[in-house]
Amino acid sequence: MPTRLRPADLLRLTDEGANGVLDGRFDHLIPEAFPTVERWSTRLYADDDVDVWLISWVPERNTELHDHAGSFGALTVLSGSLTEYRWAGEELVERQLDAGDQAAFQLGWVHDVVWTPPQPGSKIEISSDSPTLSVHAYSPPLTAMSYYEVTDNNTLRRTRTELTDQPEGV
Ligand SMILES: [Fe+2]
Repeated sequence: MPTRLRPADLLRLTDEGANGVLDGRFDHLIPEAFPTVERWSTRLYADDDVDVWLISWVPERNTELHDHAGSFGALTVLSGSLTEYRWAGEELVERQLDAGDQAAFQLGWVHDVVWTPPQPGSKIEISSDSPTLSVHAYSPPLTAMSYYEVTDNNTLRRTRTELTDQPEGV
């Protein structure tokens, strides 16, 4: 069954989730301090159509290139920065996502996402190795992810598929 939610809906949900985190609505789910060595996540909301996660990203923990199986996705960066490497058919295309930025993932979107140091002059006071926080929504809720590698011939090769309801890969 196709999802009833579309990327625009997911962008709005991640925005609302980010506002909820800032408002303290999810304080009961959030640790006093975010882990600084491992990526961390908690589910903010779930129903039959969508799940919404808060993710804390740390240096040197990428996701590997992955898709989101049959789910649309979206994210809003809450604080800090991320770099996304998306497979664009013949190469990986890089973009930086900073606090306040949003991104939507269509079906078939293959990307790797990594923590990135905050931009010099960032309006938000954070140290250079603070975790990046982002809110992600997936619809229908995640059930699987496939992982990929780029071959020497600049093609994409699927390396494995895993059943999972956890966000953004390993
Ligand atoms: Fe992803």
